[in-house]
Amino acid sequence: MSKEIVVSGIRSTGYLHLGNYFGAIRNYVKMQEEYNCYFFVADYHSLTTHPDPKDLKANVYRVVAENVACGLDPEKVALYAQSDVPEIPELYLMLNMMAYKGELEKVPTFKDKVRQQPENVNAGLLTYPVLMAADIMIHRAVKVPVGKDQEQHIEMTRNFAQRFNNRYGELFPEPQAFNYGSTLVKVPSLDGTGKMSKSENGNATLYLADSDELIRKKVMKAKTDSGPTEPNSEMPEYIQNIFFLMELVSKSDVTESFRRAYNECTIRYGDMKKQIAEDMVSFIRPKREQIEYLLANEEGLKKILRNGAEKARESAMKTITEARKLIGINYY
Ligand code: TYM
Repeated sequence: MSKEIVVSGIRSTGYLHLGNYFGAIRNYVKMQEEYNCYFFVADYHSLTTHPDPKDLKANVYRVVAENVACGLDPEKVALYAQSDVPEIPELYLMLNMMAYKGELEKVPTFKDKVRQQPENVNAGLLTYPVLMAADIMIHRAVKVPVGKDQEQHIEMTRNFAQRFNNRYGELFPEPQAFNYGSTLVKVPSLDGTGKMSKSENGNATLYLADSDELIRKKVMKAKTDSGPTEPNSEMPEYIQNIFFLMELVSKSDVTESFRRAYNECTIRYGDMKKQIAEDMVSFIRPKREQIEYLLANEEGLKKILRNGAEKARESAMKTITEARKLIGINYY
């Protein structure tokens, strides 16, 4: 039986962080053993914020190195740059004819961007979910490993797939967002508000490139309080977040002992944060070192991208040929 197809992407907009790792990359590494995987650097998506051309290339190389350092094997998967597959923008164009202004304006991530950058509300931002749908549908993927923040985009992809199939004939499966746990992950930021993110609140986000010292400093500044005064009290959200982060990197008996201390009102958040900091350092350091090692070999990264593009185009060309035929674009 042929393997199920998986697609996912990461924008080339900066250093990857724990959210990217636990929401997405951890799944990629596991999925590469069981599925037919296409993972890419979403460089076109990053153009919505007009990056300096000088930075773009380095950012793309970095995302590739970061994925590989985390365990992705370019021999097992197709690891490529979105812009190396021209069939993606072609499918994007087709899907744009079936995407409506009203539904795109309602997307929460679009509304956030309008708030954050009112001076740059470009059409690329509005149609961002359509390009994502093209990324996924170009390989006819059924599973898309992503963090919680991307859930709605995957739902929209299902709508676009359905619309295409209804109008032109069955071509696209309806993909599902995927995580090996039961629910999609949202890694919270260290300051008790929102999630870790590439572009906002750098001091509350742990990056895979952070030095040991910086990791310790950020973790020790995480929001806590003086501790509960009633046994078994409900945890405020920012304390739940600290426990969540601890569970990602610390041994389960360690986390349990701090949970017990919380319930017995003997918890010392200073000790808890020291423990998290050391476990984070042990988790991040080998990845950081491996990233540096891979980045030093630019030729190696170029080769990965070239091979990845070849694999991705082979699959993309098959889909676009079918799509063209169904639409009626086959004149000679
Ligand atoms: P991006 O580049 O913002 O993030 C890459 C992946 O990391 C996940 N993620 C998180 N997961 C848990 N907690 C967090 N704090 C956190 N922050 C980020 C994201 O959910 C994502 O899986 N639009 C996408 C890129 C993209 C894409 C696609 C993804 C373009 N086309 C097609 C899947 C399929 C994005 O901006 O991800």
